[in-house]
Amino acid sequence: MVCLGNICRSPLAEGILKAKADALGLNWQVDSAGTSSYHNSEPPDRRSVEVGGNHGLDISGQRSRQITQQDLIEFDVIYVMDESNYRNVLDLCTDALQESKVVMIMNVVEQNKNINVPDPYWGNNGFENVYQMLNKACTAILEKYK
Ligand code: 4NP
Repeated sequence: MVCLGNICRSPLAEGILKAKADALGLNWQVDSAGTSSYHNSEPPDRRSVEVGGNHGLDISGQRSRQITQQDLIEFDVIYVMDESNYRNVLDLCTDALQESKVVMIMNVVEQNKNINVPDPYWGNNGFENVYQMLNKACTAILEKYK
């Protein structure tokens, strides 16, 4: 799960998908990262922690990190939150297999529409909307791969 800062959207996506996979007893490795290192080692934004908490998720133990080329080798699918993340992650890819792993996350709900999960960092609402979008997407991911 990849966004820009790895403090707002992708930590929620990680928490949601992990909880759903764990609930089904699936041994999935779910992780998140940012395309930037702006918030390296920081916990998620308190507004994401709060929205997660409202839905029974504790994401406070996560720490921000920047995506690495190893991630593109190690993980089967790289879900990105928006078009900017998509371009930045594609730029890191070194072959066609890696490029084929990169998916705009809302395309699992509405194929080929390239809908962005809006960056909520600069506003004060939008976090619940982000949660609802990611919850739908993670349900679809589970249906696809479980
Ligand atoms: P995220 O949100 O990409 O969902 O974690 C942002 C967090 C920080 C910044 C931008 C977006 N920033 O510019 O510091």
